[in-house]
Formats: sequence, structure tokens, C-alpha cells
Amino acid sequence: MDRTTQLTARRTARTGPAPAADVYEPAEPAEPAEPTGPAGSLRARAAGVLESNWTGTSTVPSRGLYPHQWSWDSAFIAIGLRRLSPSRAQTELETLLAAQWGDGRIPHIVFNPSVPLDAYFPSPDFWRSSAAGRAAGAPRTVQTSGIVQPPVHALAAWLVHRADPGLSRARGFLARVYPKLAAWHRYLLHRRDLGGGGLASVVHPWEQGMDNSPCWDAPLSRVAPAPARSFRRADLAHGAAGDRPTDLDYQRYVRLAAEYRDRSYGDEASGGFAVEDPAFNALLIASEHALARIARELGATGTARRTRAERLTAVLVDRLWDPAEGMFLCRDVYGAGRSGRLLPERSVSGLVPLLLPDLPRSVTRALVRTACGPRFGLGGPARLVPSYDLTGASFDRHRYWRGPAWFNTAWLLERGLRRHGERARADALRADFLRTAAASGFAEYVDPYTGAARGAAGFGWTAALTLDLLHHDGSDHSTHHSSDRGGNRG
Ligand code: SER
Repeated sequence: MDRTTQLTARRTARTGPAPAADVYEPAEPAEPAEPTGPAGSLRARAAGVLESNWTGTSTVPSRGLYPHQWSWDSAFIAIGLRRLSPSRAQTELETLLAAQWGDGRIPHIVFNPSVPLDAYFPSPDFWRSSAAGRAAGAPRTVQTSGIVQPPVHALAAWLVHRADPGLSRARGFLARVYPKLAAWHRYLLHRRDLGGGGLASVVHPWEQGMDNSPCWDAPLSRVAPAPARSFRRADLAHGAAGDRPTDLDYQRYVRLAAEYRDRSYGDEASGGFAVEDPAFNALLIASEHALARIARELGATGTARRTRAERLTAVLVDRLWDPAEGMFLCRDVYGAGRSGRLLPERSVSGLVPLLLPDLPRSVTRALVRTACGPRFGLGGPARLVPSYDLTGASFDRHRYWRGPAWFNTAWLLERGLRRHGERARADALRADFLRTAAASGFAEYVDPYTGAARGAAGFGWTAALTLDLLHHDGSDHSTHHSSDRGGNRG
């Protein structure tokens, strides 16, 4: 009997046939098997990374490059940490949520006051959150940045709950986080609908998380660079210059962030940059589905949220789907003389909506074709999923989000493939993920052709998502689209 058959047999003996699939937390055995043998030692190594990156209340992405708490990193880290300690995973999310602003935004960085100011740029004295963010309700006692990151949090909270529902209920975890997550989504859907079409816009490349993606080249070119001598980068002390964004990119990042700060982080007046991004919005929709499940767990119906998630999916297709490219594209809200236009650059962000349950079948089929075609090479020449079109003019296999493959996007696509019945491809991606994570020392990202480590080593979400995929061998996911849809109701 192979391992998959053994696990299935064990599960069937214990619990009977698996119940209808839950999109965001597929059915799993009551007493999940611990990985043994080589997987067991990979688990121990991944756990070691999370242990050494743990500060007592949260986990740093990387001790050197990113020595504070980052928003979407923490959400991915919680998703893996639940496999080690559901209670620590709850703490991870609650520490982040404790720094939420009065207007609902969850800041992209929560600063650790014991870390020296020059360890990371832009530091708290750049953002000046408690003063400049006062009108937007920035907290007084903790320093944060003023921009946001992708909303993976409700999805993470639901998955953390599912890891140990008894503990979660005993601690009132979901009841505490639900209102905060609801306020976060309200902020994004109301204050950030800068394009007026129903999707959330990002106002800085750091908000989308894929900082120097070629998608931003055109909208960023309209931003005047800040003087080179007006700031000092800290990232180059920890990463090779050829792996990181350029100085000119940084000059524009600084200008945009400073102008947002100088507008008191208000979203009423517009800055120079606003983009509707497919991954950011797909994660918001996935999290809205998760909020519906949380609402139901707390005794409500969740129907309004589920309906909203379905409606947002239709809006996403309407505004960002490009049938000729077979993928989603970014919309430059202020492009084409401020009437908005789709940007032609193809990044992995445009594949991430595969995560969603309610996409038309023609869209999911095209997304899988594009992912497996020459542009992204999934299951072919590429390792994991490259961050940018392998054939694109701006492709650079080493530079941050302009080509290298990242583990969080691979994790999202593994889930998307599995959800839409692409089990063999999902299994292969999972195996590649685990192999590459192990061989690269849990690298921040890797060369998309060789899998060689780039960026920081011992990276938080790489280790965490390794733990998550080690735990799930995929055998218990439903692979039928129709039953997935059914399983997502409730
Ligand atoms: N990713 C950005 C950095 O490199 C901002 O979060 O600092």
C-alpha cells in the first residue's frame, strides 16, 4: 500500500468517508498522521525556522532582512504554524490585529520597538504612524507603517480555527477576531474602491506584496523619484543588490509612501498610483468566503457575505479577465488619462484567482492552460511557479518579483489546482514545493529554472507553508468542481 492509500484507509477506518469538501479547509482525518522519515526531518527543520523567527508574540519573516511583523507574512505563517501550535497561530494573528487602525486598515508592518531604527528602512520615524495617522485612527502605543498588504487574514483565521476547533471555541478566538476582520474588509471595499467598479485598489507596490513586479513599471513611471540621498536602504545589507529592487524603484517607493503619509494616510484625495490587482482582490474574495464560514460558526447565516463573495468574483472577471491572454491582468486606475486601462504585463498575480470557487469553468480551464504553457512553465521547465512571464521582455530570473519563484504563490496555486480537479498537477506542484523548500534552506524565493536559493534564508512563510503541505498529502481534497461548490455553501 502506498502512503496515500494508507492514509485514506486509516481515515476511512476512523471517520468513515470524508465529508463534502470545504474549500478552504478540506476534510481531514480526526487524528492527522505526523509525517515520518525524511518528511519528519523536514518538518523538524521547518519548525526550527519558525522557532528561531518567533519573538514571543509573533514571527519575523527573516531575522536579518525583515526584523518586524509583516501583515501577509503573518497570515501565511499562521496557516503553517497551526500545524505546530494552534494557540501560537492564534496569537500571531491577534498580535497583528491589535495594531489595526480605527478606520479598519491592517498595517503592513507592526514595528518591534526593541529593534534598532536603522535595522530596516523605512523605519517608524519615516511612517510616523501615531501622529500622521491620527485622523485615520492609528494606534498610539504601537508604531506601524500606514499602507496595507493583501487580505489573507480571514482565510488564515478560519484555517487556524479548523486546526483545533475546541481550543478556538474555548478561547473565543473567532468571536474576538471576527469584528476586526469585518472592519478590515469594509475598509478595503469602501475606502479603497478608487476605480469605482467595486474592487479594492492598492496605492503602493508594497501593498500588493510583489514590490517590483513589471506590472508596476508603467504606473510607477508617473511617480517622481525621491532624491537618492534623502534615505538609506537597509535591505542591501542582507540581500544581493541583483536580487533586490533597484535604487530607482526605491526612490519611487519612498516618494509614494511619503506623499501618502503627508496626506495623513487619507484615501479621499488620490495619490499618483492606484492599481486593481487580481491576486489582492482574489485573496479578499477568498477571505470573504472564509468570513462567511466564520459568521456561520458564530451562529449567523453568512449568506450576505457568501453572496458578496460571489458578486465580487463576477466583478473580478468583468474588470480584470483578459480572454485573449487566458489570465487576469492588473488595471491601472489612473492610466489612459485617468479613465483606466488593463496593463499588458503578465505576472503570477493573474493566476492566483484560480483559488476561487465560483469562477466560470471556461476561466479556470484557461488559467490552467496558461499556467502550464510557455509563459509560466508549470510542470515543465519551471520550478514552482515563476513570478513573471518567462517569455516577457522584463523577465529577470534573479530580481525579486520579476521572475523568481515564490513559495506563497505556489501554495495558493496548489490549492487552486486541487480545488478545480487538477489533482495530478497539484500533487506535482506540492512535491516540487517540498523538494525545493528543503534544498534551498527555506529560501525567500528561488531561481525559477534551477530552484537555487535567492533572497533571505530561513524565511518564515516558506517554512510555515512547508509544514502545511507536509501535513496535507492532498488525498483528502475533493477534486470535483460541482461538489466543491456545494461544499462551499453553508
Ligand atoms: N517588501 C518590502 C520590503 O522589502 C516592503 O514590505 O521592505
